[in-house]
Amino acid sequence: MIKVLFVCLGNICRSPMAQFVFKQIIEDCGLANRFEIDSAGTNYDCDAHNFIHHGTREMLKSMHVPFEEHYSRRIQPKDYDYYDYILAMEEYNIEDILSIVGPDTKNKIHRLLDWSSNPRDIGDPWYTGNFDDSYWDIIEGCQTFLEHLEKQNLL
Ligand code: 4NP
Repeated sequence: MIKVLFVCLGNICRSPMAQFVFKQIIEDCGLANRFEIDSAGTNYDCDAHNFIHHGTREMLKSMHVPFEEHYSRRIQPKDYDYYDYILAMEEYNIEDILSIVGPDTKNKIHRLLDWSSNPRDIGDPWYTGNFDDSYWDIIEGCQTFLEHLEKQNLL
């Protein structure tokens, strides 16, 4: 079982989008039983168990990506031990994750787009209002992450 935790700041826009996009991709590839997936955020506010942002819901609906209810939660130190991959949306998230879980001694923390031919941050639609760009970046990130696992013979 490969355990993956997608992480952003608020856990209502990008990381739940990545969670359900990745879920659909692995289901389409017949790999769903090989993964355990969740998402979390770094903001204190995440523990208020907020709903997925309507912009993310609308984006997922328009692209026919199935999703369930998800309530925001803040990443905890024990998540570092439990998950194999902690995939952040942007560099700023990584700083916050490290401040919560401590040093990345097992090299588990990466940006989702680090395996892309153009490694980069995924912009925050909470501020930009642009859920489309985040969606296509997340598609690229999820696909290139899966390709990375294949190249490492982990699938
Ligand atoms: P996310 O976006 O990190 O992609 O979920 C945000 C959602 C909420 C806030 C910031 C970013 N916030 O400050 O409440």
